[in-house]
Amino acid sequence: MTDTLSITDSRTGGQYDIPISDGTINTMDLRQIKVLDDDFGMMGYDPAFKNTASCQSRITFIDGDKGILRYRGYPIEQLAEKSSYLEVAYLLIHGELPTRAQSEEWVHGITHHTMLHENTKKFMDGFHHDAHPMGMLVSTVAALSTFYPDSKAIQDEDARRLQMYRLIGKMPSIAAYAYRRRMGFPYVYPDNELSYSGSFLNMLFKMTELKYKPNPVLEKALDVLFILHADHEQNCSTSVMRGIGSSQADPFVATAGAAAALYGPLHGGANEQVLRMLNEIGSKDKVPDFIQRVKAGDVLLMGFGHRVYKNYDPRAKIIKEIAEQVFEVTGRNELLDIALELERIALEDDYFVDRKLYPNVDFYSGIIYQAMGFPTDAFTMLFAIPRASGWIAQWQEMILDPEQKIARPRQVYLGHDKRDFVPEDRRGEDG
Ligand code: CMC
Repeated sequence: MTDTLSITDSRTGGQYDIPISDGTINTMDLRQIKVLDDDFGMMGYDPAFKNTASCQSRITFIDGDKGILRYRGYPIEQLAEKSSYLEVAYLLIHGELPTRAQSEEWVHGITHHTMLHENTKKFMDGFHHDAHPMGMLVSTVAALSTFYPDSKAIQDEDARRLQMYRLIGKMPSIAAYAYRRRMGFPYVYPDNELSYSGSFLNMLFKMTELKYKPNPVLEKALDVLFILHADHEQNCSTSVMRGIGSSQADPFVATAGAAAALYGPLHGGANEQVLRMLNEIGSKDKVPDFIQRVKAGDVLLMGFGHRVYKNYDPRAKIIKEIAEQVFEVTGRNELLDIALELERIALEDDYFVDRKLYPNVDFYSGIIYQAMGFPTDAFTMLFAIPRASGWIAQWQEMILDPEQKIARPRQVYLGHDKRDFVPEDRRGEDG
C-alpha cells in the first residue's frame, strides 16, 4: 500500500490523498486541489527553497542536525584522511572510487588539459589592475565556452568527459592567472610532473627558480581543503549550475554562473569576509563588543550559521586540524586567536545556541589561506576550484535524469489586475 498524505480543503470540503514517496509529496499532485474547475490549482510557496527538493540525487548526503557529510556514501572525514582531491572528483562524478587503471586515466586526462589557450593572457590583461580575481575567474570560465564550441554536445558522453577534463584541469590555471595578473607577475604554465595542488602552487608562486618545489605539508593541506570543498548538494551555486544547465547551455557558461553565485558573501565569498571581520575586530579583547553588535543585528558573524547545518559543520572541524599543520610550516596566524575567542564566546551565548549557529567551512579556511600567502580577495577562488567537480557531477546527474526539464519556478502574482495604459501627461495624477 502506498503511503499518502490526506488533505481536506476547508474551502470546499474536498478530500485528497496525495502519495508520499521518499518522505516527500510531488507538488504537481496538489494541482488537482481547486475551488472552481477552471482554477489553476494549488501550488506550494517556498521562497529560497527552504523546504523544496528540486531533484533526486545520489551524490552528496548531509544530515544537518547531526553534522554529517558524505560523498557517495563515504564520510568526509575518511575521504579527507585517505583520499586525494582528483580521486574524490572521480568519485563524485562516477559514483565509485576509481580502480588504479581508472585513476591513472582520469589523472592523465585532467593533467593534460591544464594549459590555457594563449589568448587567455590577452583576455586577462584586459582587466583593470585591481580587478577582483573572482570577477576574472567567472569571466574566463565563461570564455572557455568560446574556445570549445564542442562543449555544446551535452548529450554526447565522450564530449562531456572532455569538458570535465578541461574544466577540472583549467580551473587552477585560470585562478593562478587571475592572481598573477592582480600581482603584476608573469603568468606561469602548469607543471605536469607535480600533483594537482602542487602544480597550482607552482603557477601561483614560482618566481625565478627553474623548478618550483611545493612544500609537501602545504601541498597536502591544499589537497585536503579541495576535498572538503568539492561538493555540498543543492546549495545556491549548485542550484544555479543545474538551473543554467537545464536550458541545455554548455557546461562552461553554466559553471561561470555557478561561480558567480559562489562569489556572494553569504556563500563562498564568506571566507574573504571572515578575514576582513577578524582584521576589523583586531584583538581578542574586542571580541565581546563585536558579539554585542552581532546580537543587536548590526553585523553578521561571518563564517557562522548554515541553512542546512544546525550543528558543527564537519568540514570546519577538519579545517581547524589542518590549520595547526599549516602553522607549523608558516608560523601561527595571529588572527586564529581572535577566531577561537569568537567561537568560544558564541558557542556559549544563548543568541547563537538558540539559533543553532555554529562555525561553517568558511570560518577557519581564510586564516589558513592567509598563512599560505594568498591575498584575501583570492580566497573564494580556492573554493571555486574544487567545487567545479561537484558542479559538474550535479550537472551530469541532471542531464541524465529523465525527470528533469528546464527549470522554471512558478510565482504567486500579487501585482495589479489589468489596467489601461496612461499617457505621460496624465501620470502621477492619482498620486
Ligand atoms: N550571524 C548572526 N546571526 C545569524 C547568522 C550570522 N552569521 N546567521 C544566521 N543568523 C541569525 C539570523 O539573523 C536569524 O535570526 P532571527 O531568527 O532572529 O531572524 C537566524 O539566525 C536564522 O538565520 P537565517 O538568516 O534565517 O538563516 P539562513 O538559512 O537563511 O542563512 C546563512 C544561512 C549561511 C546565509 C547565514 O547563516 C549567514 O548569513 N551566515 C554568514 C555568512 C556565511 O558564513 N556564509 C557561508 C555559509 S557556509 C559555506 C557556503 O555556503 O558557501
